[in-house]
Amino acid sequence: METPGLDLEQSALSQRDNLTTLQSHILSGEQKHPNATGSFSWILSALSLSAKVISAKIRRARLSDVLGAVDNVNVQGERQQKLDVIANETLLRCLGNRAGVAIVASEENEEPMILQRTAGDGQRYCVLFDPLDGSSNIDTCGGVGTIFSILRHDSKASTPEESVLQAGARQVAAGYILYGSSTVFVYTAGAGVSLFVLDPSIGAFLKVGDDLKIPATGKTYSCNEGNRLTFPAGYQRYLDWAQTNGYSSRYAGAMVADVHRVLLQGGVFLYPPTKKAPDGKLRLMYEANPMAMIVEQAGGKAFAGTQRILEVQPKTLHQRTSVVLGSRDEVDHVLKHVG
Ligand code: AHG
Ligand code: MN
Ligand code: MN
Repeated sequence: METPGLDLEQSALSQRDNLTTLQSHILSGEQKHPNATGSFSWILSALSLSAKVISAKIRRARLSDVLGAVDNVNVQGERQQKLDVIANETLLRCLGNRAGVAIVASEENEEPMILQRTAGDGQRYCVLFDPLDGSSNIDTCGGVGTIFSILRHDSKASTPEESVLQAGARQVAAGYILYGSSTVFVYTAGAGVSLFVLDPSIGAFLKVGDDLKIPATGKTYSCNEGNRLTFPAGYQRYLDWAQTNGYSSRYAGAMVADVHRVLLQGGVFLYPPTKKAPDGKLRLMYEANPMAMIVEQAGGKAFAGTQRILEVQPKTLHQRTSVVLGSRDEVDHVLKHVG
């Protein structure tokens, strides 16, 4: 008997679609590179495993008593939540035994860490991540995420930090996991953006979209308007313009959740400089750069002031930046007022 209103032909996974897991997507990508050693694929599979573990911990957070803060502040001077620590440890444990990982760098650790000193066969990589983005949302069941950026390891670099300080345009791959009403994995290796959804009943990420494109327009802006009076004048003029032109405001307070909405529905996400954070609040290397790569790969734009985010040459691992990213035309509207 058919379920009224449920059109399987129209559903994301119709019965005629081939089922592709994240794992098989990664393996088929590897087969397209005749010289691939598999290191890169092992890293992605470690990230996929981390995502499943973190997702499970978040889903049970209140039941397992891991809500709330620990008696600690991180390198950013921000209070760590218990789940910030758990997510960080999960990523370090999953990536720790993968031969292709030379260095990892996390929002929660002051210095990049060397994971493998001895060169194995093949290319080695640096993996940078924000283990839990939007962690202040956890206690209220709001969306949170994990963001990652993968760079080639520079074996000539004299310190781990020197190896990771590369402009975002040099990222080999980037992505995020959103632990929302479902858990989604969004990923690019520089040839379009793919979207996977975790099916918890089988423990696998299933592909539901390839070559995602951000709508070129979308009358929604996403920023913390509580800071409006301390934004530079150009951003305030943009908000005046948007509000007199019928725009809606949407703000989850977690970059991953806000950017995911912009990716699927269009609009613009912005975190301008403020009086409290004159260089912007978000971190260039493991928040802005990976999101900028995803957004550009999906046909959108990503700027720090008037410069493309991906062209900013980082000076320190934890440096901050302002951010304007999203639909092509909507970013242009902001830049017209700010530039
Ligand atoms: P994190 O939880 O990793 O420190 O990141 C929080 C970030 C980002 O996710 C979000 O867009 C922004 O902070 C929210 O900041 P405000 O509370 O200042 O709006
Ligand atoms: Mn974050
Ligand atoms: Mn974080």
